[in-house]
Amino acid sequence: MSELKTIKTDEEISPVKIKKNKGCLKHSLYEWLTLLSSLFVPLVVGILTVVLPLQQQNISDHQNENSKAIALNNRLQDLKLLQDQQKQVILNTFEHDLCNLLLKYKTVKIYNDTSSSSSPRDDDDDDDNEIKEDDNDDERISFIIRTKTLHALRQLDPARKILLIQLLIDSGIQKRISISRADLSSLIFPPGSFYNQFRFVNVVARDIKLKNVYLYQSNFSYSILDDSSFYESNCSYADFSHASLQRTDWTNTDVTQAIFNFSNLLGAKITSQQLATVHSLQGAILPNGSTAII
Ligand SMILES: *[C@@H]1O[C@H](CO)[C@@H](O)[C@H](O)[C@H]1NC(C)=O
Ligand SMILES: *[C@@H]1O[C@H](CO)[C@@H](O)[C@H](O)[C@H]1NC(C)=O
Ligand SMILES: *[C@@H]1O[C@H](CO)[C@@H](O)[C@H](O)[C@H]1NC(C)=O
Ligand SMILES: *[C@@H]1O[C@H](CO)[C@@H](O)[C@H](O)[C@H]1NC(C)=O
Ligand SMILES: *[C@@H]1O[C@H](CO)[C@@H](O)[C@H](O)[C@H]1NC(C)=O
Repeated sequence: MSELKTIKTDEEISPVKIKKNKGCLKHSLYEWLTLLSSLFVPLVVGILTVVLPLQQQNISDHQNENSKAIALNNRLQDLKLLQDQQKQVILNTFEHDLCNLLLKYKTVKIYNDTSSSSSPRDDDDDDDNEIKEDDNDDERISFIIRTKTLHALRQLDPARKILLIQLLIDSGIQKRISISRADLSSLIFPPGSFYNQFRFVNVVARDIKLKNVYLYQSNFSYSILDDSSFYESNCSYADFSHASLQRTDWTNTDVTQAIFNFSNLLGAKITSQQLATVHSLQGAILPNGSTAII
């Protein structure tokens, strides 16, 4: 019914309007408006549906910038805490494993237990084999400890690296295993420590602080110790052969009878009075760049 009505009204109006607007591409103004509005509205709606959410996003972004920064900061702190806990777990696991492995050593007992080694003297070959087997077992244990040590050292932070080294020293295993090629750079050892006969051979340890540390008879040969400090430490009878000691600080350090053969002391803070007390400087590069003959 309504359709019929509209058709009728169109027929009624059209003759008048067509006559008036014939010049304009044979379409009525109404038709143009209808066309434009039918195009314009969806277009505007389409643009708005895209633009408005973006604008709102921008506004909310600005509003939430602070809270987001705070959330990120919290998350970073959580991650830090988690990493810290993981490192503690690594250190604790290492300590636990070390204790278990130390109990497995055999030669300490054999070498010290004179009664047991002297009583079964029936067969010398058997005894020798036993000792050799035990030596092999002990070598294997040392190898495992060394592997675990290097693995743990790689994952730990400087503070825990020191704790790990302290564990090695306290357990006496430090003299038995080599931690060569470990990276121990930038470690700060607690002043006043006693590390006599400390083995620090063939390690990378740039910029370490060994201040006021007792290092009597310690061995630093073949290590890279550039920019490190031995300030006020006791390095008497220590071995620094073939070590790189560029720009190291030896202020008030006792270097009596220390061995510096083929070491590099270029730019090091060490007095000629101190150098006069050392055991040997054969082939060493002196602070001023000249090479020592004796
Ligand atoms: C084991 O023997 C070594 C020397 O052979 C000695 O210095 C050490 O004190 C002995 N250890 C024990 C627990 O007897
Ligand atoms: C220091 O260690 C090196 C390498 O293990 C060794 O050759 C040297 O004899 C040691 N120095 C001393 C004084 O024991
Ligand atoms: C360094 O240690 C040695 C051996 O214990 C000692 O004889 C010497 O007096 C010490 N040096 C200093 C400056 O205390
Ligand atoms: C470098 O230093 C040493 C010891 O301090 C000294 O004997 C030598 O003459 C110096 N060489 C030069 C070129 O200054
Ligand atoms: C260092 O050099 C001296 C001679 O200058 C020598 O007697 C000594 O054996 C050397 N030490 C080492 C560990 O090579």
